[in-house]
Amino acid sequence: MEHLRQFVSGCRLCVLREQAGTVVFGEGVANSRIVFCGEGPGADEDRLGRPFVGRAGKLLDQMLEAMGFDRRQNAYILNVVKCRPPDNRTPTVDERMTCYPHLQAQLALIRPQILVLLGASAVKTFVGEQAQVGKLRGVWQLLDGGVWAMPTYHPAALLRNPAWKAAAWEDLKQVIDKYRELVDPEHDAPAHPR
Ligand code: URA
Repeated sequence: MEHLRQFVSGCRLCVLREQAGTVVFGEGVANSRIVFCGEGPGADEDRLGRPFVGRAGKLLDQMLEAMGFDRRQNAYILNVVKCRPPDNRTPTVDERMTCYPHLQAQLALIRPQILVLLGASAVKTFVGEQAQVGKLRGVWQLLDGGVWAMPTYHPAALLRNPAWKAAAWEDLKQVIDKYRELVDPEHDAPAHPR
């Protein structure tokens, strides 16, 4: 993983690297059975070189905690693109596809059984460009390689639309249930007891 991190740090394959301060590779426990995938670094992430450390990241950490996960213990967090798009614009399809081999290499090392797709960029990247979060959220997608993917809202979208939180929690409860089914029947989730 460290070799891959160094390799990705030297990437110059797309224009995003020109304006980004750092390459935000991802972080967590490298053999986690569950991975959370966002869109791309924002200003805070770009400054600190770590994924999901701003406002959306705080909410993601709370969601993880309610689910019994923690990036230091049993989860890995990464993004579809590793460099901050200028002005936090949505990364283009080209940028996502250019960065995709890095993402695939990460997943090949981690080999998660469950992938939580946070928001449209992640959902489109893994499910297809026509995919819409509003339609697919809460519906398991079995990806090539046998990974179970759950599309749900991005934490930043939940900050903008707090009314969506209830639906997102329904999706995340399904994720906890799947984790108990596939990984650890004893998994403790404070907000979704067994
Ligand atoms: N939003 C993302 O999609 N990823 C981050 O790392 C931070 C905010």
